[in-house]
Amino acid sequence: MKEQFRNDTPINYEVVSRQIDEMNLASVGKASIREIKRLVDNIEQASGEKYIRMEMGIPGMKPSSIGTEAEIEALRNGVAAIYPDIDGIPELKKQISRFVKNFMDIDVKPEACIPTVGSMQGSFAAFLTLSRMYPEKDTTLFIDPGFPVHKQQHKVLGQKYESFDVYAYRGEKLREKLESYFKKGNIHSVLYSNPNNPSWICFTDEELQIIGELANQYNVVICEDLAYFGMDFRKDYSQPGIPPFQPTVAKYTDNYILLISSSKAFSYAGQRIGMMVVSNKLFIRRAPGLPQYYNCDNFGRAMIFGTVYALSSGTAHSAQYALAAMLKAANDGKFNFIEEVKVYGEKAKIMKKLFTDAGFHIVYDTDGEEPIADGFYFTISYPGLTGEELIEELIFYGISAISLAITGSERTEGLRACVSLVKPSQFPDLESRLKKFSLHHAV
Ligand SMILES: Cc1ncc(COP(=O)(O)O)c(C=O)c1O
Repeated sequence: MKEQFRNDTPINYEVVSRQIDEMNLASVGKASIREIKRLVDNIEQASGEKYIRMEMGIPGMKPSSIGTEAEIEALRNGVAAIYPDIDGIPELKKQISRFVKNFMDIDVKPEACIPTVGSMQGSFAAFLTLSRMYPEKDTTLFIDPGFPVHKQQHKVLGQKYESFDVYAYRGEKLREKLESYFKKGNIHSVLYSNPNNPSWICFTDEELQIIGELANQYNVVICEDLAYFGMDFRKDYSQPGIPPFQPTVAKYTDNYILLISSSKAFSYAGQRIGMMVVSNKLFIRRAPGLPQYYNCDNFGRAMIFGTVYALSSGTAHSAQYALAAMLKAANDGKFNFIEEVKVYGEKAKIMKKLFTDAGFHIVYDTDGEEPIADGFYFTISYPGLTGEELIEELIFYGISAISLAITGSERTEGLRACVSLVKPSQFPDLESRLKKFSLHHAV
């Protein structure tokens, strides 16, 4: 920032600088999500000013009472004392199977629908088991940008991964790019999130078809991370059994595992419950590498009685009743879970306009010909600044976000902004702070 503007920043320049020094960070621009959070907490306390907090992707909504009441009742009935089945209570398995039929139009047997301790445990269990099916296939491919914790899971497991930024490979270009990895024969699975954290791009049906076809051709399992299930608000995916349905690669291949989180779509992050949905065919697949680690060569059995048993022996009993009740109500058309979270999209629409009016650009901006949806996240850049520089500047203007660089994105000029914690009552502050920012950073 130019020296002449230092006495004109929305948050006192000296206070912010002192807090940055006290945190002893090598660079604010390279800080992790949790470090940025701590820094902003400290500045808010020292300055008495509230930030526009866009650094963390935490749900900002109350869960439906359908879930909490069912969970309380289950606890009253004493389920806390009893081990749940490793692969989930029958009612939840049935409702997950109904849910994927009603909202994705796919057929999966209840036995292949497994609750997990958050979608995070689902991906951990998936990577662990998938990497052991075929000795020659020892590597995961990430279609980035992505959620950094999945890569951390690989580091913790000592497993290999490769990745590429999909920005330059949308549409038909995706085929050749994916094939260049699959041809080598070492890829056991692919993971991407859709809608995507951090960029909020959504794959088109053409792209999902390409991914599915190549999964069949090269025997690669697709792990589709649906942490933001149904939250592409450009289409109405909220009516059970009625199209349009949440798009999925499962329409084009039987080589899939769906990871469906309850954290965002059902605002149930705190109870750590998610769903792993394995295709019927993959569930009964036999693979030569499995017996070295499990007492069978069958994928579904290895997953449940090997991996999930060893990790946590199932998922908290009471939370399963909560999720079963919410899914049942959604399946019966009595609970429009998507309507509950639409407010994220409404906020994003306004916030994106405030940013672009102030001279910012949306980095990942289209799906095919269409502008990307308004949802939980969006990506921004400012002419002439790298992502790192942009965070380092914005922090003096009472605005926080994270750098795209930590998500595997090659768009190093970009930041990820999350709308969930920003209140509409803060929009006037956001607008005036952005105006001041662009005044101080004339292009
Ligand atoms: C893309 C993505 N996958 C997975 C998760 C984790 O989901 P869960 O809370 O169900 O473990 C998140 C949470 O932010 C996410 O953004």
